[in-house]
Amino acid sequence: MLKVLKQLHLPLWLLLSCVLATLWVLLSPEAGLGRVSRLTNSWSDSTEDSSPEHVCNCSGILQGDVEALEQAKLLTITKEFHQRIHIPDESYVRATQDCRNFKLKRKYNTQPLSEEEEDLPLAYSIVVHQKVQSFERLLRSIYTPQNLYCIHVDKQAAASVTAAISAIASCFPNVFMVSRREEVVYASWSRVQADLNCMAHLYNVSSQWKYFINLCGQDFPLKTNLETVRMLRSLWGGNSLESEQMPSGKKHRVTVVHKIVNRAMEKTKEAKTPPPFNLPILSGSAYMVVSRGFIHSVLTDSRIQALMDWAKDTYSPDEFLWATIQRIPGVPGSNWPNSKYDMSDVNAIARLVKWEHHEGSQGSLQAVYPLCHGRHVRSVCVYGAGDLHWMIQQHHLFANKFDTDTDPIAIYCLEKYLRQKALADVH
Ligand SMILES: *[C@@H]1O[C@H](CO)[C@@H](O)[C@H](O)[C@H]1NC(C)=O
Ligand SMILES: *[C@@H]1O[C@H](CO)[C@@H](O)[C@H](O)[C@H]1NC(C)=O
Repeated sequence: MLKVLKQLHLPLWLLLSCVLATLWVLLSPEAGLGRVSRLTNSWSDSTEDSSPEHVCNCSGILQGDVEALEQAKLLTITKEFHQRIHIPDESYVRATQDCRNFKLKRKYNTQPLSEEEEDLPLAYSIVVHQKVQSFERLLRSIYTPQNLYCIHVDKQAAASVTAAISAIASCFPNVFMVSRREEVVYASWSRVQADLNCMAHLYNVSSQWKYFINLCGQDFPLKTNLETVRMLRSLWGGNSLESEQMPSGKKHRVTVVHKIVNRAMEKTKEAKTPPPFNLPILSGSAYMVVSRGFIHSVLTDSRIQALMDWAKDTYSPDEFLWATIQRIPGVPGSNWPNSKYDMSDVNAIARLVKWEHHEGSQGSLQAVYPLCHGRHVRSVCVYGAGDLHWMIQQHHLFANKFDTDTDPIAIYCLEKYLRQKALADVH
């Protein structure tokens, strides 16, 4: 044996330490096989599920099975069901007084599930103003200890909402409330500022994370953390967000000065000056998937600082600012401003949204996607369980909008689907 080792030029101490390390991993309850199987047990949703939704046939719903969908609908139209699933804000404050128990009961993931995921930590900015239950289910579904989560709760949010979300955040070292809060007015600069505050905070607290993703309380993931990490790697350092030519109907947003009147955006008679450096203004979404380098540019590049100063009195700057920065030469992960590099919301992986005017019956060439099975809010589909079958076939990391008051089954079945997929990938 020793002779063989000598021939291989392996020192004995190396072999011994390898054997010891292997034994330690195998025997230690905190690591290796013990860790994964314990995790698989405590994390599985199939055990002791007493939630009112558990009678639904989620595998049928995910396949678009008509009978399973009708069953779910019958359940959700009853008042009694909605009363049963309602969770008052105060109960989150109570439940999080014992953090260990809260994480255990709610089955939070407490270990990175793979080295691959550990090697690519993510930074999230989550902007919320209401509906604590939706927020908590979103956080739980994306939570993993190696990622960072910055939470921006609106300055105008109800005190009970702020208290409940702070209480949840206090249970996790990597979930924190942003240091500067804004009063967010729809379509105003404040929406951008809320994300900027989280970006600065996230950039300051850690130099480890590699990608940034911003979310709101009505988003929900379509991919597990492992799938997300793999898709991000495949971007080769690039960003993924909607960035295309601005439709003429939206041009007034950046050619006329707007201001806030009674907590709403109003246009004035004053024309805006052209953007700094004659930057081409592109159209996009408030939501993006961008590299750390992109965030560094947002926080430090003087061209971007000038663009942001210019954008403060425009309408809905969130829907053109990131799209425009994504086309400024030199910004990490950006695309050249030539229109050949335009990217639509359907092609970007940041967010799946069903706009009412792009919906249509199946087989119609005009339709971008099938009809909404939930209801519409500001022309955007709030998903129902019937949308899931189509949704899980899309490449997007997140979808918008979900609402436990509209259809709790859609979120419930998606939670189960993601959890099962994540567990199946633990080896
Ligand atoms: C759930 O739906 C699937 C697929 O449609 C079906 O095969 C299965 O029997 C259903 N399960 C229950 C418990 O109804
Ligand atoms: C980030 O850190 C710098 C330097 O310590 C500090 O000046 C700045 O205020 C910090 N910003 C945030 C948002 O924490």
